[in-house]
Amino acid sequence: MKTITKPDAMFKAVMAVKTKGKSVGFVPTMGALHEGHLSLIRRARKDNDIVVVSIFVNPAQFAPGEDLKKYPRPVSKDIALCRKAGVDFIFYPLPKDIYPQGFKTYVSVDDLSQVLCGRTRPGHFRGVATVVAKLLNVTQPDILYLGQKDAQQAIIIKRMAEDLNFPVKVRVMSTVREKNGLALSSRNAYLNKKEKEDALVLFKSLNLALLLIKGGLRDAGRLIKRVRELISKKKSAKIDYIAIVNAETLEPLNKIRGNCLIALAVRIGKTRLIDNVLLKV
Ligand code: PAF
Repeated sequence: MKTITKPDAMFKAVMAVKTKGKSVGFVPTMGALHEGHLSLIRRARKDNDIVVVSIFVNPAQFAPGEDLKKYPRPVSKDIALCRKAGVDFIFYPLPKDIYPQGFKTYVSVDDLSQVLCGRTRPGHFRGVATVVAKLLNVTQPDILYLGQKDAQQAIIIKRMAEDLNFPVKVRVMSTVREKNGLALSSRNAYLNKKEKEDALVLFKSLNLALLLIKGGLRDAGRLIKRVRELISKKKSAKIDYIAIVNAETLEPLNKIRGNCLIALAVRIGKTRLIDNVLLKV
């Protein structure tokens, strides 16, 4: 496994393998790797000749006041996990290599970026789309692997790849959960024991929603009310949003019908968590 820090060196390394006809799978990460990332890496390993993982805590996707400084950066552990998982290249750039002085070009995916998480995290998805566009240019993958837990991010990146003619397939893999249902996230590291228990309310409320839909409830407003009631029982929980939207356009649904995404963002103490479920009704 090789760790490369400079974009031009990374580009040369992948082009050297691609000219030999080898396929490249790419997993973009901000490090603090967990089983969710490892499941993407394993799938990339299975599908491709070469696997590239990027580790880059992207300043452009953190709004002022967010957790950029305290975001976990266990780099040696991440590198060891990548080696064990059979990664071929780690791309580990410095912020100045991605955003050199004078950087002025950003990628904005309209509408999809302004709803759900985009409402409370203005500029977040512009930062995500920009860095992923750059990472795709640098790593030239055949397949890009993303996690369903960040459903809105995956939808935005798919849209961007299509709109900007990136020759890449986007594969979205299921959310990996702890045994009790908590969706894995690098931000779970911020939760204390009690908050970790409280955080289960996200999974429980998605299950409640599924149960109600199975029982015939189709009115999105009523469903959201029931979910809100359940989450509000936890004192440490502060709801950012509960939404039922079209799974491609992210437009809100009044009636639960077709391909739906039920998505939540809830603050547990100081930690903002997201979770979602996709369903076809
Ligand atoms: O999901 C993440 O970890 C990040 O948003 C990503 C896709 C690596 C871009 O910085």
